[in-house]
Amino acid sequence: MVHIPVLLKESMDLLKSEKGKMFIDATINGGGHSREILKRMKRRVVLIGIEQDGDLINSLKNKFQKEIGEKRLILKKGNFRNLKNLLKEIDPSAKLRVNGIIFDLGMSSYHLEKSGRGFSFQKDEPLIMTYSAEFQDKLTAREILNQWSREELEEILREYGEERYARKISQAIAERRKIKKFETTKELVDVLFKTVPRMKKIHPATKTFQALRIAVNDELNALKDGLEQGFEILNKGGRMVVISFHSLEDRIVKNFFRQKKQENQGQILTKKPIQPSIEEIRQNPRSRSAKLRGFVKR
Ligand SMILES: C[S@@+](CC[C@H](N)C(=O)[O-])C[C@H]1O[C@@H](n2cnc3c(N)ncnc32)[C@H](O)[C@@H]1O
Repeated sequence: MVHIPVLLKESMDLLKSEKGKMFIDATINGGGHSREILKRMKRRVVLIGIEQDGDLINSLKNKFQKEIGEKRLILKKGNFRNLKNLLKEIDPSAKLRVNGIIFDLGMSSYHLEKSGRGFSFQKDEPLIMTYSAEFQDKLTAREILNQWSREELEEILREYGEERYARKISQAIAERRKIKKFETTKELVDVLFKTVPRMKKIHPATKTFQALRIAVNDELNALKDGLEQGFEILNKGGRMVVISFHSLEDRIVKNFFRQKKQENQGQILTKKPIQPSIEEIRQNPRSRSAKLRGFVKR
């Protein structure tokens, strides 16, 4: 299934830079936003696409990069929290400055439906949840569920999942793993169905899966680091555009832009976050929680 880019026109309008030459897509995935950047900016633009998932980078190399050319589309596997080092690997003189950078956070349709790494509570897959396809020596959801203390579980469920039944769920997980360790998403979903009261709108596993995914990928700290590093490498007049999908991410972006404004480092382009239209939500329900914010550097 192809990932449908969210808030495409709106994010492009914010990113638009008249002088534009060098752009970064910090979360390139299937290249939805990147294609549009390249299309709009025509020949004048060089784009660097960053992605943590090596499988996605390989498939972009096989198709997208061949189509666009290696000079205009540079692909780099890595975490955007190390943006400055990733750029140094591309340009060892470290002189690269960019005119625009876009972050489209979180996971994609590919992760939910194809990666086989346990992002979806609708499937029965191993409990991995890393964005990186090479997860052998990395923290996984399985390790968190089987090895972290009950108190730590409760904390991530509360903090990263904003889950009101955090204590109850952590207790149920701690009991279940005494009998048999968790291996698959279905085993976890079964416990959640028994533990979390049924709500009309939201599946009982939604918040727990969100919490685990954030913890596995250390997403909130990665975002803070990525925003700082992205800002440093922006040219004067360069624009930073971020699409977030839940309130924890959006708060970090909002506060980051406010702080930069207070430090007199530029202007906020979006007084309020831009959200998808009813029409976009109808066509792509995954977009419903998206919030777009932008900033221009002085
Ligand atoms: C929502 S998707 C981006 C979709 C893309 N804009 C498109 O329209 O095709 C987010 C992507 O960011 C990647 N990602 C998440 N956190 C990352 C990080 N810290 N560093 C690099 N990539 C990351 C995920 O692997 C995922 O492929």
